Amino acid sequence: MGHVTLSEAEGHVTLSEAEGSLDHVKRDSSLSLGMTEPRHVTLSEVEGSRNADASIIRTVQQHYDASIIRAVQQHYDVRSFDCMSEIVLEEVRNHTLLGEVEQYFDPGQWQRVVDVGCGASARNPIFALRYWGREAVAVDLSWRTLQRAHERIAVPFVNGNVLALPFQDEAFDFATSTGVIHHTPDPREALRELKRIVRPGGGMFVSVYNRRSIYYPVYRCLGGVFRALVRLRLEPLVRWIFVPLYALVYAPIVWMSVKRVVPVPYRQAAADFDDKFLNPYVLFYLPEEIEEWIAADGLVCLKSGTHMASMMLGFLIRK
Ligand SMILES: C[S@@+](CC[C@H](N)C(=O)[O-])C[C@H]1O[C@@H](n2cnc3c(N)ncnc32)[C@H](O)[C@@H]1O
Repeated sequence: MGHVTLSEAEGHVTLSEAEGSLDHVKRDSSLSLGMTEPRHVTLSEVEGSRNADASIIRTVQQHYDASIIRAVQQHYDVRSFDCMSEIVLEEVRNHTLLGEVEQYFDPGQWQRVVDVGCGASARNPIFALRYWGREAVAVDLSWRTLQRAHERIAVPFVNGNVLALPFQDEAFDFATSTGVIHHTPDPREALRELKRIVRPGGGMFVSVYNRRSIYYPVYRCLGGVFRALVRLRLEPLVRWIFVPLYALVYAPIVWMSVKRVVPVPYRQAAADFDDKFLNPYVLFYLPEEIEEWIAADGLVCLKSGTHMASMMLGFLIRK
């Protein structure tokens, strides 16, 4: 597998791959910010460590509320979601529906897998490589996030938006997108985009926040206070008082989640705090709402369930 290095100079980012095929890709931040005017994105503008697989790239137009996308991107540029550990992988494998994929699909037959909104921890690409032996294309809205994810795993990276994915129809056998579409102005359209890039008979695993979880009122009330403190430039107060308090609560959440007592790194709790409370745009759903979308789009919901102490709703879907 090629080792890919990133370097940045004068606002341009170049990607160079040690194994040969050198890709120089200009960074165009407007690509992932969302534009008020429809805008075509060409292959040469798509960030990718290995653009060799050009057949999966398509031209896209953007057509949604750019300000929300921009705010979410800025949040993750500054506070990338880097929440990775063996405990997290154990939780995903044993306590989410991703661990049940092999009961419904044969990953050994897959050619292409994509993870949309990979996060700095690149949790799903790491999972796909470890358990399915598949190198997932890793997509994220936030360029900074991709840079950090890049330090963890060498897979093809694409800077893109789940509402207008720069891929051809039916380009992939399986798509994962966990904890992502509820940060967009149009999660229903995001689901359709994911469907579009998956081949018939292929699958998807999508997760969103659960409106029936305690996290819903906590994000709105307590989270509102934290976000206000940050806006008032009182972030040190949040960092030194509320993050440590959250770490105390977070450990039992993880224990409930993995169903045993394990040490939880403080940095994992801190990353989770930023994600859970400082995120500027979060939507919550009931399982029946998402199931209705799935059915209305002609998809089959193979199984749904909650995880992460009922904070998350997961849906394993066949196209
Ligand atoms: C909560 S993190 C989840 C990361 C990873 N999927 C996981 O489960 O660990 C959300 C990620 O989605 C990305 N994201 C948010 N909105 C997005 C969008 N419209 N398109 C693509 N990625 C997006 C963020 O940059 C962030 O890295």
